[in-house]
Amino acid sequence: MPLVTTKEMFKKAYEGGYAIGAFNVNNMEIVQGITRAAKKLEAPVILQCSSGARKYASHDYLVAMVKAAADETGLPIALHLDHGPDFETCKSCIDGGFTSVMIDGSSLPYEENIALTKKVVEYAHAHGVVVEGELGTLAGVEDDVAVEAENASYTRPEEVYDFATRTGVDSLAIAIGTSHGAYKFKPGQKPQLRFDILEEVAKQLPEFPIVLHGASSVNQEHIKMINEFGGSMPDAIGIPEDMLRQAAAMAVCKVNVDSDIRIAMTAALRKHLSENPTHFDPRQYLTPARNLIEEVVAHKIDKVFGSTGHAFD
Ligand code: G3H
Ligand code: 13P
Ligand code: ZN
Repeated sequence: MPLVTTKEMFKKAYEGGYAIGAFNVNNMEIVQGITRAAKKLEAPVILQCSSGARKYASHDYLVAMVKAAADETGLPIALHLDHGPDFETCKSCIDGGFTSVMIDGSSLPYEENIALTKKVVEYAHAHGVVVEGELGTLAGVEDDVAVEAENASYTRPEEVYDFATRTGVDSLAIAIGTSHGAYKFKPGQKPQLRFDILEEVAKQLPEFPIVLHGASSVNQEHIKMINEFGGSMPDAIGIPEDMLRQAAAMAVCKVNVDSDIRIAMTAALRKHLSENPTHFDPRQYLTPARNLIEEVVAHKIDKVFGSTGHAFD
């Protein structure tokens, strides 16, 4: 099946009260782990690549791998640019086979965010590609840029209608307390999300797909596995699954997950190599890593986002 945009997926997800998982991909094993889970559960899925992923694996390899997965599985799969930093990167992805791009102008002054996002939307829409914009700033680390919690800011619901109508974006990422990376809350801190903001945003923008970044839950078993087999990760607290379920039942149609995949892959690799110190064939240690990614993604699709069985409805 050819790659699709997120338009139909989001419409059905909004109406059905579930969300589509958007998983970051950086290599073949990650693409396969995710899409095997989606295939088993007949779920629509978004595979997204950051600028860092394009630097690491190269644009052409990523596009070819994601297209191969869409052909093999027959699933509706969207290929999305995660955190597009500028017009040129978005244009290169639009020209190069992506079906969706994010332009992340969230750190710019409001009017500059609007101008940049609008420019990307005009180019993308002329080429049949959809656009995600962002209002509000998440804390955490992305592409080696760290935003301290005190410099993060919640989305202001009074701005979202103006932003969406003036830019023409197809979906909007908002900041309600999630953050990027494995360390989302300080040790002992109780995880909290501002559902009141999400509710107000949905009132201002009825039936408009909202995106949640920084939504990994951080599996404690996997952190334990990493530390048991030679790693040393400090305590990490993610977004509780029941909060993600609640968001998916509301206006959130796309939930971004990267850290959970990184942690699963690292845990499986550490365990395998530690238990099999003589192994040196990458296929031996990448197989359990790919399997654990598949398990993590299947759990999210089925038990958290609720997108199981919605690939062809
Ligand atoms: O939100 C950021 C994603 O986790 C991508 O991370 O830029 O290190 O590839 P990255
Ligand atoms: P996590 O770091 O919580 O996985 O967030 C990923 C993300 O938002 C990608 O854009
Ligand atoms: Zn993000």
